[in-house]
Amino acid sequence: MKAKRALAETSERLATAGCESPRVDAEILVSHVLGLSRSELAREASRKLSTAEAKTLERLVARREGREPMAYVLAEWGFRRLTLAVDRRVLVPRPETETVVERCLARISGLAEPHVLDVGTGSGAIALAIADEHPGARVTGIDASPGALEVAGANALRTGLEIALREWDLFTGLPDGPWDLVVSNPPYVLPEEVEKLAPEVRDWEPREALVGVGATEAVARGGLDVLPPGRALVLEVAAGASARVVAMLAGLGYGDITTTRDLAGRDRVVEAAAAPAD
Ligand SMILES: C[S@@+](CC[C@H](N)C(=O)[O-])C[C@H]1O[C@@H](n2cnc3c(N)ncnc32)[C@H](O)[C@@H]1O
Repeated sequence: MKAKRALAETSERLATAGCESPRVDAEILVSHVLGLSRSELAREASRKLSTAEAKTLERLVARREGREPMAYVLAEWGFRRLTLAVDRRVLVPRPETETVVERCLARISGLAEPHVLDVGTGSGAIALAIADEHPGARVTGIDASPGALEVAGANALRTGLEIALREWDLFTGLPDGPWDLVVSNPPYVLPEEVEKLAPEVRDWEPREALVGVGATEAVARGGLDVLPPGRALVLEVAAGASARVVAMLAGLGYGDITTTRDLAGRDRVVEAAAAPAD
């Protein structure tokens, strides 16, 4: 079978399965199997798939038809300048979280060796991107999930970036600082919202990474004990939740509270500075 036909058939199967971007997914899967970029694939549409390549493609397409996220099917996903290993133990790193990293880098830009804590590190995406893009940063990632910490550790090895990782429950407070920055993309989907999520998220991503009641506030409260005055807390929040989080932070005594929009124009990042003690 030629690449062109493989593309058309894959795209049709994924459309029937209800995937949101069947053509793009098909291009990514076929080019992945052939070891080509998508633009190379466009130029090599008449290339023939070997029997082994056709079998591999069939296996991957069947997984995607089951609405498994593309990131798990490919076993890796791009995040900022990094390509990270991902599997069902971790949330797939999202584009809006790249905006979180951008804000973190802005907050620590004047510090040569800032101490940074990433709460709920998952794949290590935020922690590793900060270590990558601010080479002096001393970054620690914590997570309650041993499986997630294994993936984050594998990603540290894969990227050659040094971060510390610790198993930790954020509801018990945060590890002793002082930290120059505490960042978190905590679980913030409410239990009653789960059924409305896309099958890729609802049926495949780890529940403990998605669903959380009170995690955002627990991180903010924990930050009060470990952030010196003026040091920053940066939080990813659910679409539509920023006003509530801003009010919560103000109530806890944080100052300089600002929100940042993601690339889709939604307020998804809330940051604040720890206020001086009275
Ligand atoms: C939304 S995911 C974020 C993953 C990663 N930081 C990212 O942005 O892609 C939330 C993470 O918090 C972790 N988590 C959930 N409950 C936790 C708890 N009580 N203490 C520490 N980590 C927790 C989950 O295991 C998951 O890795």
